[in-house]
Amino acid sequence: MKPQVIERRNGNPVAPDGHHARPNGRWADDKLSFLDRYLVPALRIATPHFRHRVYVDLFAGPGVFFDERLREFFPGGALRVLDASGASARLRDRQFTHAVLVNLDRDDHDALSARIDALDADGRLTIPRANIQLVHDDANAVVQRLGRLLPASPYVFAFVDPEKPEQWPWQSCVALRRAVPKALDLYLLYPGMMALNRCISYQGHPNERALSAYFGCEEWRAIADARRTKAESPEMRQELEALYERQLATLGLAYVRRPRRICRTGACELYTMFFASRKPVAYKLAEWEMETVSSQLGLFAG
Ligand SMILES: C[S@@+](CC[C@H](N)C(=O)[O-])C[C@H]1O[C@@H](n2cnc3c(N)ncnc32)[C@H](O)[C@@H]1O
Repeated sequence: MKPQVIERRNGNPVAPDGHHARPNGRWADDKLSFLDRYLVPALRIATPHFRHRVYVDLFAGPGVFFDERLREFFPGGALRVLDASGASARLRDRQFTHAVLVNLDRDDHDALSARIDALDADGRLTIPRANIQLVHDDANAVVQRLGRLLPASPYVFAFVDPEKPEQWPWQSCVALRRAVPKALDLYLLYPGMMALNRCISYQGHPNERALSAYFGCEEWRAIADARRTKAESPEMRQELEALYERQLATLGLAYVRRPRRICRTGACELYTMFFASRKPVAYKLAEWEMETVSSQLGLFAG
């Protein structure tokens, strides 16, 4: 039964477990469903080759979302991966062995920590509590020292889920790759429609510093300058995505897919999810995931 009255704390809805949730439309489920579906076969493949398998969530959030319109609470990425009674039950013995969960916001960090501790107390964690590091810091600072937080020779699945482009400059992708020079799968939010495209004007470039920092190069400028009319905007958007893809390839993450285009209720596109890896097998898995999920896309629209 859906709750009729939702308690609020500092404006945030309070979930039945007594900790706050992050307001977000149910479309976030579409983004997160990639974790549920990709990780099962990916960990099956990684487990015989990697003793240490690490889930790194650099923008972890409080662990629970709340859809204001549907009045529903639903789990975020970290709980999907770490709660043995949730979607990750399907991973069974092929689990991650470690996790690093990062939050800049103190309240989100505290809520996620409390939720992880509660799962531990209930015996529902998929990973020993001692192997889960909850870090209260800026993700961009954490990636600089991430190598020291990881066990030896790991397979790392990194989830990068910022709210705006300034929160994830290109230099942080470079640092992430430096910290995980070998087996890295990256699932990353590219904030195209919700931010980047609006930063680009027809005349001059008032946001040039932000755009150069985001893309890590100046090539976006020629792409933006080539657009003269609104009708050319879709082409510009595609070329900017292709530029980001080329940038990922410079880090050795040459196998790139875009498994989700996330839309707000109705048709309005918000952002694109990128998946990048240096392994062809990861590309094939992501391709399989995309082909078989198509029937579910649009489930949360309308
Ligand atoms: C879109 S939410 C992430 C949701 C999460 N991935 C999930 O599945 O539940 C973004 C989160 O990142 C946090 N955040 C924003 N900037 C950050 C930064 N620089 N470093 C770490 N966390 C940050 C926000 O407070 C927010 O909780």
